[in-house]
Amino acid sequence: MRKRLTITSMKKMKKERNAISVLTAYDYPSAKLAEEAGIDVILVGDSLGNVVLGYDTTIPVTIDDIVYHTRAVARGAQQTFIVADMPFMTYGIGRESTLRNAARIMQEGGAQAVKLEGGADIASDVAALVKAGIPVMGHIGLTPQSVHQLGGYKVQGKLDQEAEKLLEDAKALEDAGAFSIVLELVTEPLATLISQSISIPVIGIGAGRGCDGQVLVYHDILQYASPYFEKKFVKTYADIGSTIRNAISSYVEDVKSRAFPEEAHSFQASQTSVGAIYGGSDKAAEDKRQQDSKVSVKGVKLT
Ligand code: KIV
Repeated sequence: MRKRLTITSMKKMKKERNAISVLTAYDYPSAKLAEEAGIDVILVGDSLGNVVLGYDTTIPVTIDDIVYHTRAVARGAQQTFIVADMPFMTYGIGRESTLRNAARIMQEGGAQAVKLEGGADIASDVAALVKAGIPVMGHIGLTPQSVHQLGGYKVQGKLDQEAEKLLEDAKALEDAGAFSIVLELVTEPLATLISQSISIPVIGIGAGRGCDGQVLVYHDILQYASPYFEKKFVKTYADIGSTIRNAISSYVEDVKSRAFPEEAHSFQASQTSVGAIYGGSDKAAEDKRQQDSKVSVKGVKLT
């Protein structure tokens, strides 16, 4: 069984130029499959709002949503390092509230770290969380919680001034003790420069090839009913949306035409034991089956 990564091993991976793979997950099956596939880090992103809860932005996602989904992910991926997003307005609203919200994500959700959007402006919150023993991942560039402030989902850091600010933000987060930074929708040259300028791993999304790792959204790479799979920076690895849709449509047809259930899916009167129902063949189940087969109603034996 693989050992869960630590923030120290991730920094070592950066030093050794060993790329870090990160994928979002939001529930037990997605986390289980991601872990079985060998993902390094799972992010319970607030993209949950877009791809699971059906909102237009991440802004409506609550701390309760994140805690609930993180708990399911933690059950599904017990050997994988889990980072969970602090949702909109659950940090930067006073030190005590920030600490309490992060504590919920760790204690109730079972995450190993939290992620916050922002740079120098939230560095003091990051430092306080780190001081309290909570590993923090930063997130700069396109920060979806500020979409209205940014005026839409646009590539960041194209102007010199913006680029300088992003570099300063990355350094401020490193100085505050963040163990890693997500860099979203930033030009490749700037992302490469930022990655080379700090000692903590930079995980890119839409930030090109020069980052220390990559993160993408589960539903995007699998075309799992995601409205975003056609984004330029997303690569499709499977089209499970079509597979699921086709499978469900076959099921509907089978039910309508009465092709399902068949005899093989039906229980006969003698098959009432738990073993028979769930396919078990243990002795107790067999004994129960024998006993049940002797049951009769009004003298007629049921078999
Ligand atoms: O919420 C999220 O999934 C994220 C990633 C896109 C980095 O923040």
